[in-house]
Amino acid sequence: MARTVETTPFADQRPGTSGLRKKVPVFQQPNYVENFVQSLFDSLEGFAGKTLVVGGDGRYYNREVIQTVIAMAAANGFGRAIIGKGGILSTPAASHIIRKYKAFGGIVLSASHNPGGPHEDFGIKYNIGNGGPAPEKITEAVFARSKVISRYMIADIAPVDIDTIGTTEAAGMAVEIIDPVADYAELMKSLFDFEAIGKMFASGFRMAFDAMHAVTGPYAKEILERRLGAPVGTARNFVPLPDFGGHHPDPNLVHAKALYDEMMGPDAPDFGAASDGDGDRNLIIGRGIFVTPSDSLAMLAANAHLAPGYRSGLKGIARSMPTSGAADLVAKKLGIGMYETPTGWKFFGNLLDAGMATICGEESAGTGSDHVREKDGLWAVLLWLNILAVRSQSVKEIAAEHWASFGRNYYSRHDYEAVASDAANALVDELRGKLSSLPGKVVRGLKITKADDFAYHDPVDGSVSEHQGIRILFEGGSRVVLRLSGTGTSGATLRLYVERYEPDPARHDLDTQAALSDLIAAADEIAGIRRHTGRESPSVIT
Ligand code: G6P
Ligand code: ZN
Repeated sequence: MARTVETTPFADQRPGTSGLRKKVPVFQQPNYVENFVQSLFDSLEGFAGKTLVVGGDGRYYNREVIQTVIAMAAANGFGRAIIGKGGILSTPAASHIIRKYKAFGGIVLSASHNPGGPHEDFGIKYNIGNGGPAPEKITEAVFARSKVISRYMIADIAPVDIDTIGTTEAAGMAVEIIDPVADYAELMKSLFDFEAIGKMFASGFRMAFDAMHAVTGPYAKEILERRLGAPVGTARNFVPLPDFGGHHPDPNLVHAKALYDEMMGPDAPDFGAASDGDGDRNLIIGRGIFVTPSDSLAMLAANAHLAPGYRSGLKGIARSMPTSGAADLVAKKLGIGMYETPTGWKFFGNLLDAGMATICGEESAGTGSDHVREKDGLWAVLLWLNILAVRSQSVKEIAAEHWASFGRNYYSRHDYEAVASDAANALVDELRGKLSSLPGKVVRGLKITKADDFAYHDPVDGSVSEHQGIRILFEGGSRVVLRLSGTGTSGATLRLYVERYEPDPARHDLDTQAALSDLIAAADEIAGIRRHTGRESPSVIT
């Protein structure tokens, strides 16, 4: 039986780029989840009798919220809910399932790479029928609704058993509990040469995949070990834990340091990789070489035709503006379109739907293709494996050959975290104010050729997104970019992206920070990073 419950609004339910993200105790307030879910349903039209996909990354509070969503979806008139067994669905798998079963949309419960646990982060994200994150038009409508909401609808039902595969019924709605991995594994099998990868493992190829106690554990176990025959133990930390074992499930050189150290050591396996809380980010490390996400995008694009799913070539490549220009050189050689978008996966959606781009990537460890509408950690790992299997070369050799033919884009990101918002805004305002005076100036021996505040003109729907990051370009193709993070949780996070193009193969083995030192110093001189932030050095260098 559905009932209507009176409620009063919360003022803080504005979804960010990746949904509503708050600490667990915030979500645990009475009616907090219900208000947000009802505000979402109230902002959607035409879902009566249709399908809603629901799953999450297994973090703390996942199971409780899934029960609430089921009871509310039934009361609001959805015809069917498809739920990953145990409440598990990685973000890319959810995107695939929405598309495959032609669902109306899906709810993904995750706070991505942020820590989980009773006092850590939780999140609710809505994806639309194409499998991609809800556009701003929807998220803003949800926020507007959440400010005036006065009632929600919920069915009085006993908790649904989400741990048994099969179909049941809840207050008139069909509830289908599915294997969270099977459909996704089939999709991967359709894209990649599992036989060639299997042979590589059979001949002794060794790999370490760190699932970081997050959602990709069951996916990696099934795909890498069971289907591809990698030795048991290839997938590590493969049991999703509500608190991710107390770690940050963020696959970067800070939080996956143990893997990095191993890959640089004498007993390194051939290939190392990791993924984040909800499975959409990736980390790629060869023996003795970390592949930056920007380089990984370029190398994957250059070699994608070696995988069956991309044999007929790429339609185009897209990257976020701060991502290095390495992929541009590949697009140029292939004679295909290259698109530069603002930071945020949602900007790729139109290009993918319109068939203008096949592969997309961001410097923030996201790579993916038109197979789903989210970035996809395991997809990137499998494409790398496919390439390694076909080329029978090491990651190091493939990188060296790539740089020899395209040149190397030395690249690094410096993050200044938890900077006072006022100081960060003052820095950006001051820099914006002097952009037009910069071209022609020489700083630290580097001549500035162009300086602007990036604005994106979406070639598909004509929309314009302004103030997406400040770019300062130098003679010879070097560049620094400054922008404030849209995902930080305390104060402001200033990101400085530094890139230098080096055509000469004799200089492709430099230390990255050393290769970029002039540009880093020039960026500080131009933007006054130390002066504004009071920081002598960045909090994180990747
Ligand atoms: C999330 C988004 C990405 C974005 C990243 C960094 O992971 O899905 O699209 O690149 O955050 O964003 P930020 O604004 O913190 O640099
Ligand atoms: Zn994520």
